[in-house]
Amino acid sequence: MAALLLLPLLFFSLMSTEGVGQNVVPKSVYVFGDSLADVGNNNHLVTILKANFPHNGVDFAGGKATGRYCNGKNAADFLAEKLGLLSPPPYLAINSSPNNSQLFLNGVNFASGGAGVLDSTNKGECLSLNKQIDYFSTAYVSMVEEIGAVQAHSHLSSSIFAFLIGSNDIFAFPKNSKATPLQFVGSLISTLQLQLKKMYNIGARKFVFIGTGPLGCCPAQRKQSKSGDCDASANAVSNLYNQAAASLLQDMKSQFNDMSYSFFNTSLALLELINDSTNYGFTETKAACCGLGNLNAQVACTPVSALCSDRKNHLFWDLYHPTEAAAAILISDAVYGTSPLVYPLNVRQLSVL
Ligand SMILES: *[C@@H]1O[C@H](CO)[C@@H](O)[C@H](O)[C@H]1NC(C)=O
Ligand SMILES: *[C@@H]1O[C@H](CO)[C@@H](O)[C@H](O)[C@H]1NC(C)=O
Ligand SMILES: *[C@@H]1O[C@H](CO)[C@@H](O)[C@H](O)[C@H]1NC(C)=O
Repeated sequence: MAALLLLPLLFFSLMSTEGVGQNVVPKSVYVFGDSLADVGNNNHLVTILKANFPHNGVDFAGGKATGRYCNGKNAADFLAEKLGLLSPPPYLAINSSPNNSQLFLNGVNFASGGAGVLDSTNKGECLSLNKQIDYFSTAYVSMVEEIGAVQAHSHLSSSIFAFLIGSNDIFAFPKNSKATPLQFVGSLISTLQLQLKKMYNIGARKFVFIGTGPLGCCPAQRKQSKSGDCDASANAVSNLYNQAAASLLQDMKSQFNDMSYSFFNTSLALLELINDSTNYGFTETKAACCGLGNLNAQVACTPVSALCSDRKNHLFWDLYHPTEAAAAILISDAVYGTSPLVYPLNVRQLSVL
């Protein structure tokens, strides 16, 4: 009798620990964004915005330049890895494959270097966020054909939708614009709202929003100051955008109660890395690793640029992008961190909901 009673209890405890255990992974990850997350889409475009040449990829498997704007793995790679998944392939590398609908089910990366919330940002040189969402919508139709509407809907509900977007729009905002930063951010957010709602309508339920960093602290902006200081106005616009994006997600959550999200405050996380750099192993937080001139930021990362010898102690890879070492720490914070870095859930919590 006692044994019979114990069995269901044992089952129950096994099942409940499985809910938070290591083996529980989301179905798939779908990534949308810019060069912080591009894993090779731009290789397939006719564009000036490419990274498929050295010294990019110098620390990637085989030392290969894959189209990532980084010495090694980027934020999209780490996000998938920390969730126990393979980094999803670039959409443009798999969309014409004969079994593309099966491949789409395993996760897709739509991110494209130069992309913005606005279609006008680097127009013609990248896949804008609207274009990325159009591609996702097409991919979803194939998934439905493959496994049926009910299964496809269930697949999306348990998958993660990550967004790393906004930096290029902010960089393109002219300092002498007639619009105030608040008006400008308002136009970005009203566009982003339509885009995220469209994703919800297609079936996305778990959103990860990686906010923009302290953009004024990237080498491209610091080099404009004699003392290499951060550009306070760029950081302020980034903060406004992040606050508005965080409120947008909160509003969406109150409107759609089956939607959940993680907001990651990249600005806060990166400023903490800069402030406390030596604790994290960074001895160079201002200059780019790959480049030329003042702060290695006069010239982009090209095969003829200088390459720093220790990529692990540099926060920035090139004019705009973090090194692999910095991206790993940032995404680790997003996946496992706590408020105020990431809220209301971290990505790990979101993934096991
Ligand atoms: C898709 O096709 C490729 C090559 O034909 C094959 O290597 C791969 O295993 C297939 N993937 C799936 C998910 O069926
Ligand atoms: C992110 O962190 C910055 C710096 O501490 C803070 O000023 C800002 O309000 C935070 N933004 C959001 C949306 O949490
Ligand atoms: C910067 O670091 C110092 C010392 O580690 C710490 O006391 C301070 O709170 C930090 N400031 C910020 C803004 O993170």
